[in-house]
Amino acid sequence: MSLVAFPFKNEDPEVLIGNVKVALSHPRVEEVLCVGASEDRCFTALAEASPKLEKEHGKPVKVIVQERIGELRPGKGDGMNTALKYFLEETSYRRLHFYDADIVSFSQEWITKAEEAADQGFDVVRHYFPRASTDAMITWHITRTGFAILWPESTLPWIEQPLGGELLLSRSVAEQLLNDERVRRQSDWGIDTLYTFAIVQNQFSLYETYIGVGKLHKLYGKLTDLKTMLIECFSAIQSLQGERVPKGGTHRIEYPGPVPQKVREKIGYDVEGSLSLLAEGWTPRQEELLAYFPDKVQEGMLACRSFPRFGFMDEDTWYRVYQILLEHFDPTDRDWQELIFRLWLARVLEYTVTVALRGYDYALHYLHQMVSRYAAQAFGKGG
Ligand code: DGY
Repeated sequence: MSLVAFPFKNEDPEVLIGNVKVALSHPRVEEVLCVGASEDRCFTALAEASPKLEKEHGKPVKVIVQERIGELRPGKGDGMNTALKYFLEETSYRRLHFYDADIVSFSQEWITKAEEAADQGFDVVRHYFPRASTDAMITWHITRTGFAILWPESTLPWIEQPLGGELLLSRSVAEQLLNDERVRRQSDWGIDTLYTFAIVQNQFSLYETYIGVGKLHKLYGKLTDLKTMLIECFSAIQSLQGERVPKGGTHRIEYPGPVPQKVREKIGYDVEGSLSLLAEGWTPRQEELLAYFPDKVQEGMLACRSFPRFGFMDEDTWYRVYQILLEHFDPTDRDWQELIFRLWLARVLEYTVTVALRGYDYALHYLHQMVSRYAAQAFGKGG
């Protein structure tokens, strides 16, 4: 029997309460846990609604505030780890499901598919979805790229959505994660990277289940919305770079179905709004930091101060830039934070106009091939 956990922060209470009801109606679910970042409006609405929900479904609905467990910015990591702790210390259920609280397309099928894969003996089940060709820009250019560069022989680069917040963990996986000092420390957006990494490093078997309706959730505007996430996701990978990960491992991916037209046509971010960000916020120190990078990156980025430029940030250049960032980036330094954001922005814009413009199928094929090329290149260099 299973516990379903929804970590949340300032979500639309109606959406979250709807999702709680879906989970409570599932025969495999014994209890629902909602972990709020703070006692915000959504928390209050949920706490008020929970006695009625419990009565209607005859199952407990707990609404708690996340504990301070980690050492970095208190964020999603503390929320997920609080749920792990609750699951292990307060219950004896066999499985724990996590779902993002803002999904408007959530249904019982998500739970059923995960349970069915776990019934076949998989330790971890991750949900993956069709995503727009200009969405998932951290996933592709930071996380999967980093996994390919650093651990090309492991299964890490081949995990479809390593930052996804929808997953099922068996009890032994939850124990392993909560006992892992690195996981407990990661209180911020880096938590998904840490869970994915620790699961693969410990060789748990992994199934990725495909949810064809896609994950309809709030959209991003300008790419600045993703700045903190980008920095924390890169920094999580950087903190792991000295680690060893075994080759291979059990990893099955459910074959994807046709991609809904809505996803194929969606534009993942505000391109025009993001262009101007290349020119904003430069400091003399950031200009100095550019000295670490190849000449064409230095020149291109400096030129951005007066006019947006990004054509230089192609796939091979990004590989080099990424390696330099692994060595020199300081996540606590404001100038490095601004610089990594702008370097990544140049990569995303270059990809958008040279690849994504060619159409959905072309772009998705390119992104998968790009990860393979990065892994092959890193493999040739001994990882
Ligand atoms: C990602 O890159 O996967 C983030 O969710 C932003 O889209």
